[in-house]
Formats: sequence, C-alpha cells, structure tokens
Amino acid sequence: MKKQDIVKLIHLKVITNTGEILSNWVNVCKLNQLKKGEMIDFDYNDKKILLANLDGKIYASDRICTHADADLSTGILTEEGVTCPLHLSTFNLKTGIPENLPAELPLKIYNVKIEQNEIYIEVN
Ligand code: FES
Repeated sequence: MKKQDIVKLIHLKVITNTGEILSNWVNVCKLNQLKKGEMIDFDYNDKKILLANLDGKIYASDRICTHADADLSTGILTEEGVTCPLHLSTFNLKTGIPENLPAELPLKIYNVKIEQNEIYIEVN
C-alpha cells in the first residue's frame, strides 16, 4: 500500500482558553496498516517523521539522520533499531541514541499512543 493511502494526519489539539497548546496529537494511520518490520514516513509542518513497527511496538522519531542528511525511512529496521542507509549508524528507537559511530547525536523521539486501532503521535 502506498504511503499516501495510509497517512491521514488528523489533529487532536487541547488548547486552553488563553491559547496555550497543552497537547497536540496527530492520528497518523490505523495500527493494522503498519505491519511488523514496516516503516512509513510523513511530514508535519517542518518535522520529518518516521513511524516504525518494531516487533509489534510502534515508535516515532525524526527521520533525518543526525550525522548528515540521510532519510532513515530508506534505511533498515532491525531489532536494534533503524540503521542509516548512508554510513550505517543504528539508532535505538526507544531513546533515539545512536549505538555506533559516525552519528553521535540522538534523534528526537515522539510519544506514541494507540487508541481504538489508531496510531497517534504527539507532535508538540
Ligand atoms: S548520514 Fe547517517 S550515519 Fe552518516
């Protein structure tokens, strides 16, 4: 299935009466549209985000490698995390921390929740 058939990006914002955004969740797709071992990528404003199903658990992170300008959605997903296609640093998707050089800086990690078979990520 093509990414544009999956990603829908419906916003659920909680805003106070003073205009402060308390939380900002985006409904990305249905849980059963992201199978084990699969990744999808999407953009939200200026964020480039990777969504991955790692052995049944869903993770969301920035998808541009912190070492250089490589798109991790074209990398390899293994039980250690996502491996960059350019110089092969592997990022732990729970923490964002690279497990080997040359990348040294962590990826930004986003909170994920599953409700009624829908995947949401917090994009604050
Ligand atoms: S661009 Fe990812 S490790 Fe170099």
